[in-house]
Amino acid sequence: MGPFNKFHPVIAGLKETNMSNRVYIFDTTLRDGEQVPGCQLNTIEKIEVARQLEKLGVDVIEAGFPVSSPGDFNSVVEISKAVSNPTICALTRAVKKDIEVAADALQFAKRGRIHTGIGTSPYHIFNKLNSNPDAIIERAVEAVKYAKKFVEDVEFYAEDAGRSDNEYLARVIEAVIKAGATVVNIPDTTGYCLPSEYGEKIAYLVNHVPNIDKAIISTHCHNDLGMATANSLSGIMNGARQVEVTMNGIGERAGNTALEEVVMALRCHKDLEFDTGIDSKQIMRTSNLVSTLMRMPVQANKAIVGRNAFSHSSGIHQDGVLKNRENYEIIDPVEVGVKESSIVLTARSGRAALKHRMTVLGYQYEPSELDNIYNRFLDLADKKKDITDEDLEILIGSEKQAG
Ligand code: KIV
Ligand code: ZN
Repeated sequence: MGPFNKFHPVIAGLKETNMSNRVYIFDTTLRDGEQVPGCQLNTIEKIEVARQLEKLGVDVIEAGFPVSSPGDFNSVVEISKAVSNPTICALTRAVKKDIEVAADALQFAKRGRIHTGIGTSPYHIFNKLNSNPDAIIERAVEAVKYAKKFVEDVEFYAEDAGRSDNEYLARVIEAVIKAGATVVNIPDTTGYCLPSEYGEKIAYLVNHVPNIDKAIISTHCHNDLGMATANSLSGIMNGARQVEVTMNGIGERAGNTALEEVVMALRCHKDLEFDTGIDSKQIMRTSNLVSTLMRMPVQANKAIVGRNAFSHSSGIHQDGVLKNRENYEIIDPVEVGVKESSIVLTARSGRAALKHRMTVLGYQYEPSELDNIYNRFLDLADKKKDITDEDLEILIGSEKQAG
């Protein structure tokens, strides 16, 4: 395999399997996710989420941006004390004061990481930072070197890398790795890239940064065009070995890459032979906790964790899934902590689904009796969105009286 096949000295403290295929899960629910308006959590709530993320098996928890407020600082301190398996990461700008405050906040972390960086796209260099490309490299190197004075594990982010020139980006990445960066994050900050484009960007770095084997490449994709998961997977396929994700895909604007989507995509496609340390049975519990505490409902058709993700409503699908689950399910719901898939009875349901539900409720019918009940069921289902077990009991009761 490529250069990223090597054992990484700083990441060595993490659960290790086969380095070439191990994808590290960096969860930023409590940083990039939590900055969404209305999603703010207090320290106690953040600790509860962090403990659940630890159970889920994430490798890194980005716990906050300590210089941004005393509350965020305190949360990083308390999360560092509360969890011990994941690396605890704190975000900074390429600013000395930010880095000092982050280092202070990480003082109780068993393994602490400083995540520092600066914008590298023309938009950021010229419009936002009023600077020039060489000065940005100098600031990036200075920030990484300064962070290294406090912690061994320093991640560098090239903000808006998605819209940065690849040749320039390669120069930045080479310089920050030389300065000691252990992880290099290539964010598609504005969710602009297409999967092929993002994958090519990662491949370009793998092929053009001479010291790339000294660092892990990380993806950090936003979902403005609905491509965050596809872009992250494309990044992995081209050599990234860390993905930055949030639970339920929460985050700035249209959100970040959803943890559950990347993890389950890698699990479903076993042929790719990528491995994460995630206990997938904890996914639903984590999703519910984040959604409840952040008061951020999960859309019903959200992949993996939406209410309808394992529910079958059309007659053809219901018949197929009753014959063999795998006809219409690519994931066993139990694998993500959902007890079972459901067959929702609506006017689109067929006899097979009705018969199945009747059997579950303890009723057996001859085909002609079932036909009668099915016709009455359709009458009711045309008037009502979905049919509950109570509705069925009433239908059965009136069928008995009619008989
Ligand atoms: O989207 C982004 O670029 C970020 C960085 C701060 C890592 O969140
Ligand atoms: Zn982001």
